[in-house]
Amino acid sequence: MKKIAVLGYGVVGSGVVELFYKNKAKIEKNTGAELDVKYILDLREFPGDPYEDKVVHDISVILNDPEVCYVAECMGGVNPAFQFVSSCLEAGKSVATSNKQLVAEKGDILLQLAKKNDCNFFFEASVGGAIPCIRPLHTCLAGNDISAVAGILNGTTNFILEKMFCDEMAFDDALKLAQELGYAERDPSADVDGADACRKVCILASLVFGKHVYPDSVYTKGIRDIALEDVQLAQTFGSAIKLIGSVKRLEDGRILPAVMPMVVPSDSLISHVDGVFNAVMVWGDGFDKTMFYGRGAGKLPTASAVLGDIIDAVKAAHTVTSHEWILADNTDFIADMDAFSAPRFYRTAACCADAAEQAAAALGLEVCKTAENGCIVSACDNKTAEAFAKALEEAGASVLAQIPVLAD
Ligand code: HSE
Repeated sequence: MKKIAVLGYGVVGSGVVELFYKNKAKIEKNTGAELDVKYILDLREFPGDPYEDKVVHDISVILNDPEVCYVAECMGGVNPAFQFVSSCLEAGKSVATSNKQLVAEKGDILLQLAKKNDCNFFFEASVGGAIPCIRPLHTCLAGNDISAVAGILNGTTNFILEKMFCDEMAFDDALKLAQELGYAERDPSADVDGADACRKVCILASLVFGKHVYPDSVYTKGIRDIALEDVQLAQTFGSAIKLIGSVKRLEDGRILPAVMPMVVPSDSLISHVDGVFNAVMVWGDGFDKTMFYGRGAGKLPTASAVLGDIIDAVKAAHTVTSHEWILADNTDFIADMDAFSAPRFYRTAACCADAAEQAAAALGLEVCKTAENGCIVSACDNKTAEAFAKALEEAGASVLAQIPVLAD
């Protein structure tokens, strides 16, 4: 019998154990292997828990047990997860992780370690929760030249934005509810300020473009500055505001990864992705455009992806089927926001239409939509966007918010 160890018995780890035992017979039939969870590693005790006898506190118990072939890492954070996962891979045990931070910061090293030790390092749960998007990018869509990926990669912020829009719920109350539902990170500022989505962009960008993209190379802006008035004006323009994580290849071959709130027109499928749901859109030469959609956070959805990876590792036996990318020794292949271009949404304090027409004409922009307190203008770079804002100010329509618009 092959044994599984689960590292971390929090929301996701306990979900992995729960789902495993619920579907054990089916999982064993699928893999053709007898499987069991032998250990659960956590610092805490869990008196009364049905699996309390499996709880251990010392990683060496797992490392030194040859029966344990598969490890589900659900601890979060880089330390000590990096040391634990490295040691498991060095011992030839395949690892499935839900830990975005670990993959975004150390994925290149861990993938190499897995390969060297004839085992697998899988991380489907690290992006999009239950949505299968990592594996399809690496397998089903691998025959394409992928040019861009963009999506809603954080369930907590999407949930908060929806609660603000639809229920006029205060930001803090919506965040508290997201925490109660197990969506939010331990430190919710990672959700709200965009770090969680940034890590997911790093993973997608590394996977698609083949070189490790580290979090500090990604322009990241969260949703703290979004006001209810912005949301309402966006609605007037038939749009929603979403936190979008994206990476695209530019004409010069560099890539531009970014996380920021964007105005999303209602004719884009992404604008209808609400609550804790995530969506990942991918553009490629053969298939044109496709979208993956599903629950992006929560106990069992995330556990579902971790278990899928464990099943894949069991089926792969000693074949290394892990995804791969190379270490990046410089960031020359990554462009900064000077290369960013998009239509822009402006919310203003006073009548906007005449001021917008006047300012746009001077800068060679087109006014796409106007309302009493704002407008949308055609695509431009950041410098032009600032010049337009200044011109609006000079014409008496002081700018209260400026948000890029997602164009398909
Ligand atoms: N806090 C994350 C989110 C959890 O809200 O999307 C899943 O990665």
